[in-house]
Amino acid sequence: MNELRRNVFSVGAIDWDRRLFDELIPLPDGTSYNAYLIGGSEKTALIDTVDPTKTSVLIDNLIRAGTDRIDYVIANHAEQDHSGSLPDILMLYPMAKVVTSPKCKAMLIDLLRLEEDSFVAVDDGQTLSLGDKTLRFIYTPWVHWPETMSTYLQEDKILFSCDFFGSHLATSSLFVEDEALVLESAKRYYAEIMMPFRTPIRTNLKKIDSLEIEMIAPSHGPVYQKPELIVDAYRDWVSDDVKNEVVVAYVSMHESTRKMVEHFVDALIERNIKVKQFNLTVTDIGELAMSLVDAATIVIGSPTVLVGAHPAAAYAAILANALKPKTRFASIIGSFGWGSKMVEQLTGLMGNLKVEVLEPVLAKGHPVDDDFAALDKLADKILSKHKGIGIAS
Ligand code: FEO
Repeated sequence: MNELRRNVFSVGAIDWDRRLFDELIPLPDGTSYNAYLIGGSEKTALIDTVDPTKTSVLIDNLIRAGTDRIDYVIANHAEQDHSGSLPDILMLYPMAKVVTSPKCKAMLIDLLRLEEDSFVAVDDGQTLSLGDKTLRFIYTPWVHWPETMSTYLQEDKILFSCDFFGSHLATSSLFVEDEALVLESAKRYYAEIMMPFRTPIRTNLKKIDSLEIEMIAPSHGPVYQKPELIVDAYRDWVSDDVKNEVVVAYVSMHESTRKMVEHFVDALIERNIKVKQFNLTVTDIGELAMSLVDAATIVIGSPTVLVGAHPAAAYAAILANALKPKTRFASIIGSFGWGSKMVEQLTGLMGNLKVEVLEPVLAKGHPVDDDFAALDKLADKILSKHKGIGIAS
């Protein structure tokens, strides 16, 4: 049994094989759906369940722990990777009540068609006694759905934070061992689904500031015994600080855009600007999303196809627009044969970004000296903009 503290057990499931989430997000290292069993002197609570594909693992773990009674199932979040086994758990432990926020209750009724009388709705800050252990519910909305809460086990000082602070990482270690690996996975997860909600996450961070936390037990990835490791990382990610970095995401059909990208990237490197270059035809979009957490500038490179941007470039623009990174500057480079509306199209697709658009560089056909000079000028402009906000010298 995986015991975090006396009578606090991890009973969730590791999904070593999962490689895609929401049919969108790559999971190179698998994931886990964590659930925690808390045995109080009077009542027993299960915090979250697991993805419906792993219900049998959760049930086996509960049986192995000798769990003959569950009084409460705490649902921190309605998404099915945590709630999907609720119907089976309620069938197995019919006396159990689902404890959750009113918003989450409504969503669980919609998503899982649970009965109204299965629930106990709790307010922000409300406590629930298990006897010698007390749970406090703290609303932490928009990490990444509006209904999400965290549960704080007061006596043991453990914060069960659900997706918040989680990492998509399948590992046999209950606790964080390889800090760099976990931070990388947590940053990828933050970038993929939480980055658009930087502002509410800042509020949530302030909210948990007043808690004495000795352990953070998220619902994906290992448990943090050093909470400051992930809390400090989140503080940095949600801050307004950007780095002297340029993300260049491009696609090329007949080498013109690729040659422009290569020249441009060299020009940035010569100016001591860090570059992350992504060929969109082979890019893991999680890597691209992660690079946008810190970069001051994004540049999209595309040839013109049927008068507009290449669909792969349009996809990158739509993705960046949805993720709303704190990026300050953007530009577009690329090529066209006889006419192009891709600049208007791509800037239109990135309307959510609060960026200053720097003058794009488009080459007619194969780039010539004037085009390379324009790319050098764009690199100069980026350097001067980065200097202007104090991140380059
Ligand atoms: Fe891990 Fe939003 O579910």
